[in-house]
Amino acid sequence: LLAALAALLLPTRPVSLPSLVQAGPITHWPAFCPPQPTTKLFIDGKFVESKTTEWIDIHNPATNEVVARVPKATPSEMEAAVASCKKAFWNWSETSVLSRQQIFLRYQQLIKDNLKEISKLITFEQGKTLADAEGDVFRGLQVVEHACSVTSLILGETMPSITKDMDTYTYRLPLGVCAGIAPFNFPAMIPLWMFPMAMVCGNTFLMKPSERVPGALMFLAKLFQDAGAPDGTLNIIHGQHEAVNFICDHPDIRAISFVGSNQAGEYIYERGSRNGKRVQANMGAKNHGVVMPDANKENTLNQLVGAAFGAAGQRCMALSTAILVGEAQKWLPELVERAKNLRVNAGDQPGADLGPLISPQAKERVCHLIETGVKEGASLLLDGRNIKVKGYENGNFVGPTILANVKPNMTCYKEEIFGPVLVVLEADTLDDAIKMVNNNPYGNGTAIFTTNGATARKYSHLVDVGQVGVNVPIPVPLPMFSFTGSRASFRGDTNFYGKQGVQFYTQLKTIISQWKEEDATVTKPAVVMPTMGN
Ligand SMILES: *[C@@H]1O[C@H](CO)[C@@H](O)[C@H](O)[C@H]1NC(C)=O
Ligand SMILES: *[C@@H]1O[C@H](CO)[C@@H](O)[C@H](O)[C@H]1NC(C)=O
Ligand SMILES: *[C@@H]1O[C@H](CO)[C@@H](O)[C@H](O)[C@H]1NC(C)=O
Repeated sequence: LLAALAALLLPTRPVSLPSLVQAGPITHWPAFCPPQPTTKLFIDGKFVESKTTEWIDIHNPATNEVVARVPKATPSEMEAAVASCKKAFWNWSETSVLSRQQIFLRYQQLIKDNLKEISKLITFEQGKTLADAEGDVFRGLQVVEHACSVTSLILGETMPSITKDMDTYTYRLPLGVCAGIAPFNFPAMIPLWMFPMAMVCGNTFLMKPSERVPGALMFLAKLFQDAGAPDGTLNIIHGQHEAVNFICDHPDIRAISFVGSNQAGEYIYERGSRNGKRVQANMGAKNHGVVMPDANKENTLNQLVGAAFGAAGQRCMALSTAILVGEAQKWLPELVERAKNLRVNAGDQPGADLGPLISPQAKERVCHLIETGVKEGASLLLDGRNIKVKGYENGNFVGPTILANVKPNMTCYKEEIFGPVLVVLEADTLDDAIKMVNNNPYGNGTAIFTTNGATARKYSHLVDVGQVGVNVPIPVPLPMFSFTGSRASFRGDTNFYGKQGVQFYTQLKTIISQWKEEDATVTKPAVVMPTMGN
């Protein structure tokens, strides 16, 4: 059972989903998203061409060819999108929760039916391998499935007879128009963390996908419409800073969900909160894997390599830092051997283990951080900077890279690299390792590899990180739990999906009612403040 559960966590190896995907040829590319020349806006139930004069090129990261363009929506288009959300809100929030649930039941089936096609689109725009792209859609799909259990998630509370003939009860009600700002690394999963939970609770939603990878969301929006979502309940705008500021400032937007870099997250949290909105922001990370000498070596090395280099390290939950404790330090040469064996190729090529980085700038930044490691005294045991991928010479490829003898004051340790680079530190004891992890500002995820239950228990208990894996390298919880990054990895007070997701997207209304037993008998008016005692 544990193995089955672990397989559902972000795959370090391709997940195969044969039972979920209906066989059949890829029928067509939708007309409203790449690789069509222009990406549309989705406003009031229609895929419309923007009237903007400013366009951003979308590149295939494996070739750097321009494959499509995405508009910077104009102020009036963005206004129209919010107005559409606002207009649709009343009807949608008054639609029975069972009807909303039905739409999401149809939606999850449509996502399953189209999973392969959405995945192709992700690989095309984002670069990750097809298997990883399927994992991307699949992990988002699980949130949609969870949204279908809204009927038990959205229950209020009741206290009968708080005093004679008086009851108190609460409703969980939607907020209104909510908005989501998504990053480039999970084009399907992260938007699906956002609008389904918000909308099943009765909110309407404005999405801004990453301008680098808008295709998957456009496809998902079409399927959502096909599932029966009324016009205007979901709107999509594209753009960069102006669109972000627009969302942070618009008085009709009540809540913002954000996933992405620290700099953007802090900014959105500040600006959105200052404008009185609820904001939840999941941000950067530096996830440590602590390797104890009593760990299952075979398993641990495979897990480390998969979690460090999978998705070319462009996961905020990538296990980018290893701490080898005591005798486990001797495993380093074998770790390097395994990393060498990974195949770097365009994401749609068979057998590819990791694809390119998202952009030439991303590659440059990663190479620069590797260089700082070398300059500051780390040992470069494996260098992926000069990798050549046959047939894809212009792609943004970096091969698996390992920096060892890394010290906590080095730049490559302090900054999130977001590339296929594993930095390796050493510790004499478990206590030293815990101290190191707790001194790092980020608190997204961590893992410990050990066969000793007491060691695992002690680590899980003392480490100050939101999500802990015990022999599980990427501990991303399933949607009945919440995604619980902490410290510098999170701003806000309620997390994504799970019970906390419902709390984030709803507000409580408390009703105190008195129905006197004497029925409609008229009594004297009560002039004093009710105390509710007996
Ligand atoms: C709300 O629903 C009613 C009944 O289905 C419909 O007639 C009306 O046009 C809807 N209003 C909006 C703004 O969608
Ligand atoms: C942690 O990792 C996830 C998954 O990659 C990412 O979306 C998120 O922004 C990161 N930060 C937090 C606090 O969750
Ligand atoms: C890190 O600290 C060590 C020991 O205090 C020092 O020698 C080294 O120069 C420092 N390195 C950096 C990059 O600050």
